[in-house]
Amino acid sequence: MAIDVTEILQDTFPDLDAEALATLAPLVRVQPYPPGALICREGAYEDVFYLIVAGEVAITKHLSAGEERVLRYSGAGDFFGEMALIQDQPRSASVRTTQPTTLLEFDRDVFEHLMVSSPGLAWRIVSTTFDRLRTNDQAALDDLRDAYTILARLDQAKLDFIQIAAHELRTPLTTILGYADMLRDHPAAQDPVVGGIAHGIAQGAARLHEIVDGMLDITKIDTETLNVARVPVLLRSVFTELKHDFRDVLAERRLALEIEQGDDLPLIEADPNLIYKTFYQLLSNAIKYTPDGGAIRIASWLSDVEGIGPAVVVSVQDSGVGIDPAHHDLIFEKFYQVGTAAQHSSGKTTFKGGGPGLGLALVKGAVEAHGGAVWVESDGYDERRCPGSVFKVVLPLRAPDQG
Ligand code: CMP
Repeated sequence: MAIDVTEILQDTFPDLDAEALATLAPLVRVQPYPPGALICREGAYEDVFYLIVAGEVAITKHLSAGEERVLRYSGAGDFFGEMALIQDQPRSASVRTTQPTTLLEFDRDVFEHLMVSSPGLAWRIVSTTFDRLRTNDQAALDDLRDAYTILARLDQAKLDFIQIAAHELRTPLTTILGYADMLRDHPAAQDPVVGGIAHGIAQGAARLHEIVDGMLDITKIDTETLNVARVPVLLRSVFTELKHDFRDVLAERRLALEIEQGDDLPLIEADPNLIYKTFYQLLSNAIKYTPDGGAIRIASWLSDVEGIGPAVVVSVQDSGVGIDPAHHDLIFEKFYQVGTAAQHSSGKTTFKGGGPGLGLALVKGAVEAHGGAVWVESDGYDERRCPGSVFKVVLPLRAPDQG
């Protein structure tokens, strides 16, 4: 059946006069396509506008997971391919025929001429395009929501794995620790070589125990099953205990640890175990990222903090390599490490020694479980200049009600 281009144009653009139609008709191509033909390719720079004379096309968009979503099917009288021309951008979607389809094709200059000479058409195209942009936004939002759901599921799977692995590791570790203790007490350990080996095993196993405990804590924080005790805690005694626990490392690395706090600092209502872990982590980080001979200072004071109320603020300041502001929020996310994992040694207190990337997530979880807040201040990362970092922890005097 012969196609009368002028007639189709007249039906489609009723506000064009005979002269305009006569000018337009020879510039338009009539093109039949078999089913499955790719007319527009998402992301491609293409310069043609289409009007469907007969048949049907499917308009689809790629999703992040590699799948395709059908936005809609269009039939006779509909147009497509205008968005790339109006926006001067690549195709926003792919368009394929679903059955034998005949299209009218307009090149960019003809399309532009049409838009100018037919205000009715221009208006229809603009309003349709707005609708499409809105639908595409919605599709992108749905896509994001789907991706978020998948990520949350993967995150949970990772936490489940960590929890199982940590539980499984605990039992043999306890055995190793027990045997190492027995070996240390054994007369054979009088021999300096055997004694040294026994000490090495005990030390390594104790470190592993700490890591495994941290892994379990993180899974608890994430599932919000962390039990927060509320007893009066004297922060000064926590810091004194830490200074004692880290005394060998501090001496070995020639690091000065200064603890400054007024005698009138009140007790806080908190979980002593979690508070100890929090400052243990912050102090071991300060040691890890401060070169030998540097200084660390823990200061605390009473303050009325907006949104929290009466609280003790603790700052843990070091003279270390500092942290790039781009990482200030991310370092509190679990598994996040600055730099690649391969660059990290696993030492707890060796300079720039890494770790499993859970420490600060634990700090954040523990502090927030107390109704407090934690953040870092640092001018940036510089291994030569060592601008240092300050971690600030706000702990309310009274823990909020647990839900
Ligand atoms: P363009 O971006 O040039 O190429 C792909 C075409 O698909 C696009 O122009 C529109 O004509 C059409 N398109 C894109 N998104 C939608 C949508 N949500 N609904 C209908 N058509 C669309």
